[in-house]
Amino acid sequence: MSIAYLNGDYLPVEEANISVLDRGFIFGDGVYEVIPVYGGHLFRLEQHLQRLSNSLSGIRLDNPLTDSQWQKVLKEVVKRNNNDGADQSIYLQVTRGPALRDHAFPDKISQTVFVMSNPMLPVNKEKLNNGVVAITHEDIRWRYCHIKSIALLPNTMMRQVAREAGADEAILNRDGKITEGAASNLFIVQDGKIITPAKDKCLLPGITRDLILEIAADAQLNYSEEDVSPEQLQNADEIWLTSSTKEILPVTLLDGKPVGDGKPGPCWKDMLDRYQKHKQRLRSGEAH
Ligand code: PDD
Repeated sequence: MSIAYLNGDYLPVEEANISVLDRGFIFGDGVYEVIPVYGGHLFRLEQHLQRLSNSLSGIRLDNPLTDSQWQKVLKEVVKRNNNDGADQSIYLQVTRGPALRDHAFPDKISQTVFVMSNPMLPVNKEKLNNGVVAITHEDIRWRYCHIKSIALLPNTMMRQVAREAGADEAILNRDGKITEGAASNLFIVQDGKIITPAKDKCLLPGITRDLILEIAADAQLNYSEEDVSPEQLQNADEIWLTSSTKEILPVTLLDGKPVGDGKPGPCWKDMLDRYQKHKQRLRSGEAH
């Protein structure tokens, strides 16, 4: 049974209970992070904690813990769930806590802090060999998508539309600009150039996205952060989706049409290789 952390206690996840009045439950009033753990090392912890802090200030909620307190808690959860060093996916969530139901913030706030660990499953080999299927969908979310809010109903609905269409992900179009996936960031490759939308309030500043740009810069690859139009997406040589849990997935079928030659492309293979080397260095403690 996996061990979770809830408001100062470590306990089996099944025994972790919160009040039904918690504003996370009632309003989706909270934020979260998903942090991979490779060989016992929390991946890009500093960046995840920075994004958590940004999300918390974005919803005007004080950070309940300092960075060093967070590190202590997260490392303890990792340690308590160590299953022969198997990779883990750490989920953490902070909500505005329990209060009588009222839309405006309560005067007295006691945040709910919850952390759990799930096994990090290896990325599906078949999807890496053949690529994944995506559809495009209107972005039906709010205007603060840079905040990693737990209120994910639009994301779950769009992912479900994708699933019912036989696709793995919905790629979102907001007012004629392609932003990201329902639970992933987006890259395209055109004539050898790697392009991803610039960070703004329309997309989540993905930690995997940033690492890919760092790798591209270090390797002096041709890349840029710029708007992606629906036409560019449809005509891209390659499309990639990135996230902490799925790493870098090639899209080979978009809205029923093959992307490029319909096979995972050479730029994706090169980037995945570099990404895996980075992970290897992390496992041995050389990188973060
Ligand atoms: N989601 N955009 C959205 C809307 C996301 O939900 C995610 C990740 C990303 C990628 O961010 P990162 O590289 O930091 O994982 C982009 C997580 C994995 C989830 O909700 O489970």
